[in-house]
Amino acid sequence: MLDIQIAAAAPPPFVRREEYRPPEWLVPEIALDFDLGAERTQVRATLTVARNGDHAAPLKLDGEALKLISLTVDGAEADYNHEADELTVPIAGDRAVVETLVEIAPAANTQLMGLYESGGILCTQCEAEGFRRITFLPDRPDVLSRYRVKMTADKARYPVLLANGDPVGAGDLADGRHWAEWHDPFPKPSYLFALVAGDLVANRDSFATRSGKTVDLGIWVRDGDVERTRHAMAALKASMAWDEKVYGREYDLAVFNIVAVADFNFGAMENKGLNIFNSRYILADPDTATDADYDAVAGVVAHEYFHNWSGNRVTCRDWFQLSLKEGFTVFRDQQFSADQGSAAVKRIEDVRALRAAQFPEDSGPLAHPIRPESYIEISNFYTATIYNKGAEVIRMLHTILGPEKFRAGTDLYFDRHDGEAATCEDFVKAMEDAGGTDLALFRRWYSQAGTPRVRASLTHDAGAGRAHLTLAQQVPPTPGQPVKQPMPIPLKIALFGERSGDKLADRLVLLEGDEQEIVLDGVGERPVLSINRDFSAPVVVEAERSAADLAFLSANDDNPFARYEAMQQLMLDTLIAAAAGQTPDHRPVIEAVEQTLTNTDLDPAFVAEAVLLPSEAFVGDQMLVVDPEAIHRAREALRADLGTELEGLWRSAYSAHAANRFEYSPPAKGARRLRTVSLGYIAASGASDAPQMAKRQFDNADNMTDRQGALGILVNSDAPERAAALSAFYDRYRADGLVLDKWFAVQALSTRPDTPDAVAALAEHVDFTLANPNRLRALVGSFSVNQRAFHRANGQGYRFLADMILSVDKLNPQTAAKLVPALGRWRRFDEDRAEKMKGELQRIVATLGLSKDVFEQASKSLA
Ligand code: PHE
Ligand code: ZN
Repeated sequence: MLDIQIAAAAPPPFVRREEYRPPEWLVPEIALDFDLGAERTQVRATLTVARNGDHAAPLKLDGEALKLISLTVDGAEADYNHEADELTVPIAGDRAVVETLVEIAPAANTQLMGLYESGGILCTQCEAEGFRRITFLPDRPDVLSRYRVKMTADKARYPVLLANGDPVGAGDLADGRHWAEWHDPFPKPSYLFALVAGDLVANRDSFATRSGKTVDLGIWVRDGDVERTRHAMAALKASMAWDEKVYGREYDLAVFNIVAVADFNFGAMENKGLNIFNSRYILADPDTATDADYDAVAGVVAHEYFHNWSGNRVTCRDWFQLSLKEGFTVFRDQQFSADQGSAAVKRIEDVRALRAAQFPEDSGPLAHPIRPESYIEISNFYTATIYNKGAEVIRMLHTILGPEKFRAGTDLYFDRHDGEAATCEDFVKAMEDAGGTDLALFRRWYSQAGTPRVRASLTHDAGAGRAHLTLAQQVPPTPGQPVKQPMPIPLKIALFGERSGDKLADRLVLLEGDEQEIVLDGVGERPVLSINRDFSAPVVVEAERSAADLAFLSANDDNPFARYEAMQQLMLDTLIAAAAGQTPDHRPVIEAVEQTLTNTDLDPAFVAEAVLLPSEAFVGDQMLVVDPEAIHRAREALRADLGTELEGLWRSAYSAHAANRFEYSPPAKGARRLRTVSLGYIAASGASDAPQMAKRQFDNADNMTDRQGALGILVNSDAPERAAALSAFYDRYRADGLVLDKWFAVQALSTRPDTPDAVAALAEHVDFTLANPNRLRALVGSFSVNQRAFHRANGQGYRFLADMILSVDKLNPQTAAKLVPALGRWRRFDEDRAEKMKGELQRIVATLGLSKDVFEQASKSLA
C-alpha cells in the first residue's frame, strides 16, 4: 500500500531552461522508409550521425511507444541499451550511419501525437515531442536534418502520399500497393516533419512569387469538401503576397500543401511545405461557417504560412524559446488580418481574447513568463501567455522602435539566423542592433510573469495651462516570482478638452521606472485623459475617471480602440458596483450606447463591438471574490434596461441592416453583426415578439452567421421557439461534424439556470465523443468558460469537469490538460466554491496512472 502511494506521488521531473546544453550528436541526414498501414506501420530510419564537439558520450535517441525490431551501426549489428523512452548506442568514431526498424500502430494512437489515423487518413503531428513516437531520433529542435522520405501504402485506401519538400518519384507495386518519395532540401528539426496518406482531393492553384518562381498550391480534403476550401486558398495567396510586401519574405519551395483533418489537438501545424490543419480552420462556406469562422480560417492559414520564415527558416533552439516563433507569428497574423478589414475591430477582438484567456492565466497559479524557466510537459506551454502576450511583447517593440526600425530588425534577425535554431535573446539583439536602441530593461518582459498595473492620475493647473500626469506601475507577484522589477511600458496617451472636444496632446510615453511624472503644456481647459490607446501595452490601467469622462471619451476620442475602451470601462464600473450590492445609475451607460448607436459616421462593425457588455467572466476577473450569480443578475439587469430604453433604436438598427442576399465583404459582415447584437438587446428588453423575430431570422437565414446568431439568442430563452430551432439545426446538420460542434457549444454557453444539467445530458448524447478534440472543446470547453453555469453553487459543474478530465486523460493527455485551468481559479471564489474546486483538483492529482500533462496542471493549481 505504502509502495503504491509513493509510486503514485513520485512527481515527474522538471526540465529547466538553465540546463540547456548543445546536442552531443548531430544528424545531418535522415532517410525514412515507411511501410504504411493503419493497424501496423513499419518505419526504417537511416540516420547519419556526427559527434558534436570533443566528448566520448554515446549516441542517445528518443523513442516512445516504439517496437524496436532491429538496429545496425554502419551496416553491422550493434550493441545498444533500450530503456524507458531512450535508446543508447555506443559509437566508436565521430560519424556513423545508424539504421533502425520499428513498428507502430497508428489506428491505436488516441493521443493524436506521432502518426495517427483521422477519418481514414493517416497523418502526423510532431510538435513538440511527437516525432519520437514515429521513430528513434534526438527529438529536439536544435538538431536539424535533411530528410528524404519514402512511403509505401495500399493504393486504393491511400491514393495520395504527401510529405515535406518536393515530390521526387512515385510508382506502382504489385498487390495494389504504390509508393512515393519526397525530399526536403531545407534542414529542419524533427518537430516540422510531416506525412499524410489518404483518399484526398485537392483544390489546386498556384502563386507567382515576386522573383518570378511558381509555387504549386494544394489544399487537400475529403471528396465533397473542395468547394469549402475556396476561402482558405484565397487567404493563402493573400498571405504569400503580404509576407513579401510587409516583411520581404518569399516562399522557398516549389510546392506548398495543406491537408485538413477532423481530429487534431490544436488549430494547425506549420510542417515545412506540408501544413496540417484542424479542418475547422480550413472548411468554410456561407451555409456552414460564420463570419467569425471565415476570419479564423484566414488568420490561421496566414499564421501557419508565416511560420515558414518565423519558425521554420529560423527555428527555436529549445522549447523555452517557443514564444520566439509563436509570439512573433501571432503578431504577424494579427497585422495581416488588420490589413484585410477593419483594423480597429481586429484590435478590439485581439484585446478581448487576451483579457479572456491570458489575463486570468497571468494572475493565477499557472502564470509564467513568455519565456518560461521550467516545465514538466512542454505541451502545457502552448498557452495564451506564450502566444498572445508574446505577440503583445513584439507589438510593443514595433511601437517603441517604429515600423521602419522594426522592419530593419526583422530583416537583420532573418539574415543573421537563417537556417539556425535561435533564441528570444537573438531576436531582441537584432532589434537592438538594427534599431540602435538599448533594450536592456525591455528584456524583463521575457523573464517576468504577471500583468503590470498602471495607476494614472491627472491634475490640471488652468492658470499655467499645464497638466501633470503621474504614472505608477506595479507588477504583481506570481508563482516563483514574489518580487518584480519595473518594466518599460509604452503608453500612447492623449488629452482632450472637455469643453471644446479638441485634442490638446497626443504622445507616446515610455514608463520605465516605478513612477514617472509627465508635464503637458498648452492645456488651457479641463483635460480628459485617454490612455493605453490602441492597447499599446498589455497592462491594466487604473485611471479613476468619472462616468462623465468615460462617456465623453466614448463619444469623442479619435482613436477607435480608446473609444471602445472608455465605453467598456464605463460599463464595467457600473456592473462591478451592481454586483457588489450597490444600485448604480444605468443612465450614463444607456446614454453612451445611444450616442454610439446614433452616430452615423461610425462603422457598424465597430458599433456592434462597442455596445456589447463585458462578459460575466471579465467582470468576475475584476472582483476580489467572484460572485457569479450577482454578476449575472447585474449584467442581465443592465442588458434589460439597455434593451427597453433604446428599443426603438435597436429595432431600427435591426431592420436597417437586413440584407437581401448573402455577401462576404467587410460592410456586409458589419451589418450582420450589428443586426444580431440588436436582436439580442430586443430579446433582453423582454419584448414579446423577440422569440418570433429570432425564429424568423433563424428560418430565413441564407448564411450561418445569421442562423447561429439567432440560435444563440433563442438558446437563452424559455420560448417554444428554442426547442424548435435546436432540433431543426440538429436535423439539418447532424452529418456535418463542424456544424454539430456549434450545436453542442451554443447549448453549453446558455445563460439558463438548467445549463449544467443540459450539459451533463449532452455528454450522453449519441453524437458526443471524447475522442474528437473539437467536440470535446465544443461541449466541455465551452461549459467551463460559462461562468454562471460552471460555478453553480452545488459544485456539479466542478465534478462534471473533473470526471471529463480523468476520462479524456486516458485517451489524450494533451487535450485533457487544457481543461484543468478552469478548476485552478479556486482562489478567486468564495470559501464554499473554493473548497469544492480544490477537492476536485485533489481527486485528480490522487488518481493513479495520471499523465504528466494533467499532473503538472492540477498539482500546480493546488500549490
Ligand atoms: N505550432 C502550431 C501553431 O501555432 C501549434 C501546434 C502546437 C500544433 C503543437 C500542434 C501541436 O501554429
Ligand atoms: Zn504558431
